[in-house]
Amino acid sequence: MGFAQVGAESGWRTANTKSIQESAEAEGVDLKFTDAQGKQENQIQAIRSYIQQKVDVIAFSPVVETGFDAVLQEAKAANIPVILTDRAVDVEDTSLYVTFLGSDFVLEGEKAGEWLVENAKDADVDGDGTINVVQLEGTTGAAPAIDRAEGFASKIGADDTIKVTASQTGDFTRDGGKQVMESFLQSDDSIDVVFSHNDDMGLGAIEAIEAAGLEPGKDIQIITIDAVKDGMQALADGKINFIVECNPLLGPQLMDLAAKVLDGEEVPERVVTEETTFTQEQAKEALPDRQY
Ligand code: AHR
Repeated sequence: MGFAQVGAESGWRTANTKSIQESAEAEGVDLKFTDAQGKQENQIQAIRSYIQQKVDVIAFSPVVETGFDAVLQEAKAANIPVILTDRAVDVEDTSLYVTFLGSDFVLEGEKAGEWLVENAKDADVDGDGTINVVQLEGTTGAAPAIDRAEGFASKIGADDTIKVTASQTGDFTRDGGKQVMESFLQSDDSIDVVFSHNDDMGLGAIEAIEAAGLEPGKDIQIITIDAVKDGMQALADGKINFIVECNPLLGPQLMDLAAKVLDGEEVPERVVTEETTFTQEQAKEALPDRQY
């Protein structure tokens, strides 16, 4: 199997890489692994090299949604099946990949929005009747950034006191989240809520909020997505208010799907991972057993 990973931008990604590498080893799969360092061109180059090496199957987690048509056509012409993991691609011809294993990112954004609508009163710390939300977006053009923003917007629309006042990419990294949050805080002193597309950017935002002399989780509420250990710890400590889970442990299902594809078995076009959500109390209970 040739696997072209996005990079190492977050705790989620580190857990995802470990899951894929460990599952490959457990199943006796000869895994060729590349890290695209967040660059689509590196990922395309890696996929081309897997085609040249004539691997049996290619799997990858696309950095962004668009721009993969040509290289996927090359894989198809070489009769090498492609499995998408974690993130989708936006291609006209969906026969260019056999199956897509990963989360429903729209649903994740919806869960975050629903929680805010249900808890909006508590978020209005200054009591001015409006909930001003700033959004820390994932990598521009990446499926989780597009879909989570869409899902969140669709749910907060139910409450016209909730407004997204600023939205900018922090590229799914802790540093990116910190820098964007610093600039939001400099230009706006009425922020009630941060909606961060992943835990790492939320953790960066916590640093910026504390440096500004404010209390994260109280003066400004924080909603994130992922539920990696560091995020769950911050949730249990009261610095994050709600986390929507995104499961990175895709390795076992990926190896299983690949084996079926290579045995000529039918596989579903879409395999959605099961996920939950965590409140502060639930995080305290779940933390001791959290694997990643
Ligand atoms: O594609 C999944 C997303 O990518 C995770 O939510 C984020 O942490 C990662 O970088």
